[in-house]
Amino acid sequence: MLIVVTGATGTVGSKVIEELSRKDVKIRALVRDEAKARRFGWTNVEIVKGDLANERGLETAFAGADKLFLASGSAQNQAELQGNAVVAAKRAGIKQIVKLSVLGASATSPVKLARWHFQSDEEIRRSGIAYTILQPTFFIDNLLGYADTIKKDGAFYAPMKNGRASMVDARDIAAVAVTALTERGHEGKTYEITGPEAVSYTDIAETLGKELGRKVTYVDVPPETAKKTMLQMGMPDWYVEDMLKLSEFFASGGGEKVAPTVEKLTGHQGHTVDEFVKDHVSAYK
Ligand SMILES: NC(=O)c1ccc[n+]([C@@H]2O[C@H](COP(=O)([O-])OP(=O)(O)OC[C@H]3O[C@@H](n4cnc5c(N)ncnc54)[C@H](OP(=O)(O)O)[C@@H]3O)[C@@H](O)[C@H]2O)c1
Repeated sequence: MLIVVTGATGTVGSKVIEELSRKDVKIRALVRDEAKARRFGWTNVEIVKGDLANERGLETAFAGADKLFLASGSAQNQAELQGNAVVAAKRAGIKQIVKLSVLGASATSPVKLARWHFQSDEEIRRSGIAYTILQPTFFIDNLLGYADTIKKDGAFYAPMKNGRASMVDARDIAAVAVTALTERGHEGKTYEITGPEAVSYTDIAETLGKELGRKVTYVDVPPETAKKTMLQMGMPDWYVEDMLKLSEFFASGGGEKVAPTVEKLTGHQGHTVDEFVKDHVSAYK
């Protein structure tokens, strides 16, 4: 079986490749930047240069493959990029698409990213190709984005108040993706994916402090301050707006629900924030 992985150099896609490497399947990674892909040191992975913006090129990149893991970054044209992949997959005779979406994807979500994901989720559902849609919540891996201020002043800043969220480790999303790609019975399914427990940013600060052996403080900041910082970092307006809406949702406790998907599909409990921090502690030193 040949599986094409898009978003292969990304947080989840790179872990999908790692997991697939332990299975008896052939892997083809679709990448925009071959040099970046080679830095992952994959063995037995066919690297093919391609861009989701180029539908014609995609058909060639997908030729001969059985399954497609579809992921791309957060972008204003993501529905168009992913739509190109669906059209090319159909032409190339792909038999199943496993797509990285987002929890809460819907036509009426106040979050643009969730509306755009819904658009491509629906396009896949209508495509006639077997599919599995993965809808993860906030990634624990996002916490690596706080490494700089934690190193610099022992603190991290966000407008999350004391809301608890069942954040998920990208390794577990990848494990679910690989189950859906390599085992039977996951066609036509949409899976909500969360971590095993809901924690607050205050809990996370405590965990980080324990692991690092020094005090780490979570500083709740007003949304206007977070907005100013994100804009200063060069993030586009639409993205900043979406991130603030998501923070508001998590701050109000909207992300507490725990879904059983990881354990059900992989047979092991998902990683906790404590485990993630232990495994990535060097990033904060
Ligand atoms: N972060 C979260 O908390 C969260 C939660 C739920 C859902 N999600 C969803 O997860 C997805 C992001 O996943 P991720 O974090 O694993 O990705 P990521 O780390 O942001 O990386 C994006 C990947 O997509 C590739 N890509 C982007 N544009 C492309 C194009 N035009 N053609 C080909 N490849 C392209 C990138 O390639 P290059 O290396 O060439 O840039 C990279 O491999 C988004 O759809 C987001 O909405 C995120």
